[in-house]
Amino acid sequence: MEGVAEPRPAVDARAGSEGTRIDLDGVCRYFQVGDTVVKALDDVNLHVDESAFVVALGASGSGKTTLLNLIGSLDAPTAGTVRLAGVELTTASRAERTRARRSTVSFIFQSFNLFPGLTALENVQFGADVAGRDAPETVARQVLESVGLGDRARHFAHQLSGGEQQRVAIARALATGNPILLADEPTGELDFHTGVQILELLRAQAEAGKTVIVVTHNREISRVADRVIELSSGRIVADHRPVGGPAAIADLHW
Ligand SMILES: Nc1ncnc2c1ncn2[C@@H]1O[C@H](COP(=O)(O)OP(=O)(O)O)[C@@H](O)[C@H]1O
Ligand SMILES: [Mg+2]
Repeated sequence: MEGVAEPRPAVDARAGSEGTRIDLDGVCRYFQVGDTVVKALDDVNLHVDESAFVVALGASGSGKTTLLNLIGSLDAPTAGTVRLAGVELTTASRAERTRARRSTVSFIFQSFNLFPGLTALENVQFGADVAGRDAPETVARQVLESVGLGDRARHFAHQLSGGEQQRVAIARALATGNPILLADEPTGELDFHTGVQILELLRAQAEAGKTVIVVTHNREISRVADRVIELSSGRIVADHRPVGGPAAIADLHW
């Protein structure tokens, strides 16, 4: 873990009003597969600048993961521009891009992606380490407790339930201190009851001021969103806020 951390810039990217902005303009992401071109994203325009619980909803293959990877600078568009916290990722240097990503976004995955050889606490500390935070172990302990897993600090991933592993993964994302959480089907491998608990935890992060973007094929989950972006065949076909506000998580069924 030592050596991975890059020093924070003197002026923290989160300090300005641009700190949590996501701007995609005319974004296309095409994949050449043999003789065919797969248009994973096709002319996507998206602007998010609020602390909100945003759900991107779409069928399998509609481009959800591609969208998150572009927002998180894990991938680059074929055409169009992606700006994260005001940094245009498409023209930025590699170092600028890395800095923007590391100080802005954290990923949460369907299959948790914990390091199997590290304890829960060490997994969470990794998040604090890569973000170059002071007293990473203290940060990790506090965050692990905040997700209700203070008593699981020394457990390894295989000694935890799926819901607990996902909570560790969320804690790892929170330990970075980054303002944007990107979650790719975070309840996809969980039973209904556990999935609902994870949604509650993610919603609470949005209420505490984070920008939380959850992608899912599960329409029920979109009912508890502040904002719903619908994807179909690589295009945004709807972008709306539920009339009357989000439904209560307790009202969900699937
Ligand atoms: N690396 C890749 N190479 C080729 N095709 C890809 C690649 N990644 C995604 N695709 C294709 O792009 C489309 C969108 O994929 P994806 O973003 O993973 O969708 P979703 O997450 O909504 O299921 C799919 O048709 C998928 O097969
Ligand atoms: Mg996907």
